[in-house]
Amino acid sequence: MKLFSSATQSVPVTAEIPQHIAVIMDGNGRWARKRFLPRVAGHKVGVDTVRDLVKYCINLKVDYLTLFAFSSENWRRPSEEVSFLMGLFMDALKREVVKLHQNNIKLLLIGDRSRFDAALIAKIEESEQLTANNNGLTLTIAANYGGRWDVLQAVNKMQLAAPELAGNFSEAHLTPYLSMHYAPEPDLFIRTGGEKRISNFLLWQLAYTEFYFTDTLWPDFNEEAFKLAIHSYQQRERRFGRTSEQLSESND
Ligand code: IPE
Ligand code: IPE
Ligand code: MG
Repeated sequence: MKLFSSATQSVPVTAEIPQHIAVIMDGNGRWARKRFLPRVAGHKVGVDTVRDLVKYCINLKVDYLTLFAFSSENWRRPSEEVSFLMGLFMDALKREVVKLHQNNIKLLLIGDRSRFDAALIAKIEESEQLTANNNGLTLTIAANYGGRWDVLQAVNKMQLAAPELAGNFSEAHLTPYLSMHYAPEPDLFIRTGGEKRISNFLLWQLAYTEFYFTDTLWPDFNEEAFKLAIHSYQQRERRFGRTSEQLSESND
């Protein structure tokens, strides 16, 4: 298994274009309500935004795109909305997976899939298998995902694998068990919809990620809005604990 460097263990190599972008796609319900439509109409249009964002990322040569589609707390929503979202996920997989495959995209799902119905679990597995050998964009969908669940399941697996190390575990022991062990830590985090919180998304992996919040609602998040996020990222000085002076010295 290829292991990526950890921002807390060594200073990562960074570039103008973020290698990994993680997104909280928020604001579908409000987008719909503004138009006097049911909330789920916003989720439906939101799928089109996902399709477009995948294209922008491929054009920019982003390697990893991770999208928060359903949180472990979203089960608290009205059951009709939860069912609609599950159906939408299934339909999107059925409709899009072949196109993703043709575009050399590797699709992966992170999250606790045990709560999904059998047909959805089977479709997820089939989609992952179909695209497993692709080496273009890695597209990760976080569904029934929670950052705390992720850390806890990793701790439990690590402990079972090497009980003799109890009391001496290090980062390097834990990270292979985290859901996103196959990807570098996100460079850029984007949240649409105006809220300024993480809502239990990738807690461990966002340690040194640059955060970008926009009021734009997810269905309105177009190429121009995406470019604003990239531009904001490019203005950041990623110091990883060092001083500005140290950075300019190493650039000389
Ligand atoms: C994000 O949009 C999609 C999901 C959480 C599934 P919301 O449904 O949270 O939309 P708002 O925040 O209510 O507008
Ligand atoms: C976060 O959005 C989860 C997803 C986008 C899937 P929420 O709308 O559920 O977050 P809160 O409840 O406003 O924090
Ligand atoms: Mg929301």
